Amino acid sequence: MFVSGTIKEARAYLQKQKKAGKSVGFVPTMGALHEGHLSLLRCARSENDVTVVSIFVNPIQFNNPADLVKYPRDLHRDLDSLEKEHCDLVFTPSASEMYPEPETREYDFGDLTRVMEGKCRPGHFNGVAVVVQKLFGIIQPGRAYFGEKDFQQLAVIRRLVEMENIPVEIVACPTKREPDGLAMSSRNQRLSHAQRKTAPILYQVLKQARSEYGDIPLHSITTKAIKTLNNQPEMQVEYFTFVDASTLQPLTEHQKVSGIRICVAATLGSVRLIDNIPVG
Ligand code: PAF
Repeated sequence: MFVSGTIKEARAYLQKQKKAGKSVGFVPTMGALHEGHLSLLRCARSENDVTVVSIFVNPIQFNNPADLVKYPRDLHRDLDSLEKEHCDLVFTPSASEMYPEPETREYDFGDLTRVMEGKCRPGHFNGVAVVVQKLFGIIQPGRAYFGEKDFQQLAVIRRLVEMENIPVEIVACPTKREPDGLAMSSRNQRLSHAQRKTAPILYQVLKQARSEYGDIPLHSITTKAIKTLNNQPEMQVEYFTFVDASTLQPLTEHQKVSGIRICVAATLGSVRLIDNIPVG
C-alpha cells in the first residue's frame, strides 16, 4: 500500500497505473474509518484494478467550528485497516496541500441544497463540492463510491458531476448498520454509553413511519415520529421528512413520484446523527 500526502506523488503513482491500462476506483473519506467505509472499499476493489482512498478532514465543509475540532481522527488505525483490505493508494493531504489559496468557488445546486442538510448546515455542501471536485481532479478515477447514508450528499455529487462534466461514474452503496440498526458513522464514537443505547431509535422510527405510509396522513406520521424522537433523553430532532428521492423536495399528500425517501437528522447531546430509508 502506497501512502502519500502530496498531489505530485499521488499523481505520479496513478499515471503509472493508468499507463498500464488499469482502472481506478476511488473512495473519498474524512477518516475515522468504520465498516461502512470498508464496505465501499470492498465494492471498489471488486470493480476496479486499483483502489484509492483519500483521508482528509475537509475544514471548509464544517459550518460549525466546534464540530471540526471534535471530528474523530485516527490515522494509524485507518492505515492499518486499509492495509488489511489491500487498498493500493491512500491519499492523505494536508489542508495547505489541498488549499494553497483560500477557496472562493461558489456552486449553485438550486433547490437540492435548500432543504435538510443544506438548510441546517449553510455552506456545507459547497465545501463538499469543492473538495470532491478537487479530489476527482487529482485522482481522476473511473468510478467513485459513496454511501447512501449521506443521501443528500450523494445527490449533490451526482449533480456536481453533471454540471461540471466530470468523467466519473458515481456508485451508490447501501447504508451499513450496527446489529441494533444504528447507521454506521464516524460520529457514533462520540456517543456516551447511554446515548449509544438511545441512538437506534432513529432507525426504528424511520421503519415505523415507512410502515404507516399510505394508511395515515403524512403530517400525522411525521408529527408522531418527531414527538417520539424528542421524547428520548438528550434527543432533539432537526428534521424528519418524506421527500421525493430524486429532487429531495418534501413530499406532499398523495403526490405521485418515482421514489420516496424518509430522512431524519437529530442531535443526541452534542452529536449530530442523520439517517434515511427508502419507501417501497
Ligand atoms: O462523506 C464524507 O466523508 C465527506 O463529506 C467527503 C465526501 C469525503 C468530502 O469531504
